[in-house]
Parts: sequence; structure tokens; C-alpha cells
Amino acid sequence: MERTFLMIKPDGVQRGLIGEIVSRFEKKGLQLSAAKFMHITRERAEVHYAEHKGKPFYEPLLEFITSGPVFAMVWSGDNVIALSRALIGKTDALDAAPGTIRSDFAVHTNFNLIHGSDSAANAEREIGIFFAPEELVAYEHTIQRWV
Ligand code: TYD
Ligand code: MG
Repeated sequence: MERTFLMIKPDGVQRGLIGEIVSRFEKKGLQLSAAKFMHITRERAEVHYAEHKGKPFYEPLLEFITSGPVFAMVWSGDNVIALSRALIGKTDALDAAPGTIRSDFAVHTNFNLIHGSDSAANAEREIGIFFAPEELVAYEHTIQRWV
């Protein structure tokens, strides 16, 4: 089973979309492993978005992501990294397929509601930035799973 780091950004929180977005991952059949409602410090944002340092959107991105609380999560499941990216949709809402989170709710690339890890290495790296190992909740579903 794979793990990924997902984070509802300040725009998703302030537009009241936490429930809607979380619901999509729940209904897909993915498993919630950890969640935290929090502010991100500038330092944590720099580590998280290190790969984008120097790009034109880097400073506005850090300003945005630290502007209000985020809802940080770890989700688990077979192929959860690729499946989550599929549910989220392409970075630019114009390119995101209909039915994806970004297509359904986002207008601009820089306010695109949710972050999802793009590889196994980045997933583990990002989980480590936001969660201590003991904050990850391991459990078996006690009802019949159909997915
Ligand atoms: P990126 O990792 O390329 O996108 P994704 O979130 O789909 O993995 O970029 C990180 C974030 O940076 C992106 O979600 C929004 C912001 N961004 C911009 O504001 N402008 C841009 O042109 C790009 C590429 C990203
Ligand atoms: Mg990315």
C-alpha cells in the first residue's frame, strides 16, 4: 500500500471546500491516515516547495500558502499517489479534466485548492515535513471493503 501527502490550500479552506474535497477521496475508497489543520510557517513552506525556488511564481506561492490555515493530510491506498493526482486534475484549471477538483472549483493556476505529491520519493519527503511518524494512524477497516 502506498501513501501520499495531500494539502487543502488556504483558498480551499476559506471557500468552505474541505468537506467537499475530503469527501471525494473518501468516496474513491482511499484511506485517511492523518490530518492536521494548521498554519504553515515561511520556513516550512520553503522546505515543502524547495523544487520551485527561483521560479517566477515562487514568492507569490509562499505568500499564498502561508496566508491562512491549510488542511494537511496523509492518505493511503493502492496507487494513491497517481489516483490522487487524477482526482485533483492538472495544475492549470484550464487543462484540468472535467470532474476533477481543479476543473470543478478552481479558476487560476496559483489558487488551485489542493496540493498532492507527485512521486513516491516526494510523498515520503512531504509527509516528513508535516507529520511525525506517530501521527500516522494505522488501522484495518472493520467493515467489508469493496475497493
Ligand atoms: P507544480 O508542482 O508545478 O504543480 P502541482 O501543484 O500540480 O504539482 O506547482 C506547485 C504550485 O505552484 C501549483 O500548484 C500552483 C503554483 N504555480 C503557479 O502559481 N504558477 C505556475 O505557473 C505553476 C507551474 C505553479
Ligand atoms: Mg507539484
